[in-house]
Amino acid sequence: MNILHLDSSILGDNSVTRSLGQRLAQRLAFEHSDASLTYRDLAADPIPHLTGEAVAAQAAGDPTEIMAEFLAADIVVVGAPMYNFSVSSQLKAWIDRIAVAGRTFAYTPDGPVGLAGGKKIYIVSGRGSAYIGSPVEGWDFQEPYLRTVFAFIGVTDLTFVRAEGVARTDLREQAISSAEAHIDGLALIAA
Ligand SMILES: Cc1cc2nc3c(=O)[nH]c(=O)nc-3n(C[C@H](O)[C@H](O)[C@H](O)COP(=O)(O)O)c2cc1C
Repeated sequence: MNILHLDSSILGDNSVTRSLGQRLAQRLAFEHSDASLTYRDLAADPIPHLTGEAVAAQAAGDPTEIMAEFLAADIVVVGAPMYNFSVSSQLKAWIDRIAVAGRTFAYTPDGPVGLAGGKKIYIVSGRGSAYIGSPVEGWDFQEPYLRTVFAFIGVTDLTFVRAEGVARTDLREQAISSAEAHIDGLALIAA
């Protein structure tokens, strides 16, 4: 059993997704005491923007540590802050390295097929405003994007833990404590 834990917030000790992701990763490590836990900080150790050379190397099948780590993971915890209505560019740079034709998806005559199924992914999401069920739900390009890209590569077992409205003083405390309660109540062994 391999657990991969990613952080992609630029806010350091003030990050909501860092503390929630750590809470979840610790619970997972406790519940799966035999598991190997790999941690990657995409802000402290950023992955460069994708380049034409890197895409050519991907197409040639050159192995990368990022891809190997992802493929080996049974469970992935993704710390996903909303920046400018989508994911952080640090997380996008990671996605650009794991969404690779021939490795995690393939184009077939019947359409694209995901090749990276069988994983459980937890997305720990933090947003300054509240979107779900609100008039501005359509401004959220983070969660639909993550659902689409992971489904595209074959991962449909996604659980979102959300802290919404953390930039609002009236919502912040409740948003964080309800996300913590969500994490503490997750049935992890079934994962
Ligand atoms: C550069 C930047 C852009 C942001 N853009 C948005 C946004 O578009 N919508 C939103 O609701 N909150 C936005 N926020 C607020 C963050 O989503 C919020 O601070 C959340 O806690 C981020 O997760 P983190 O604390 O783990 O970094 C932004 C924050 C930063 C620093």
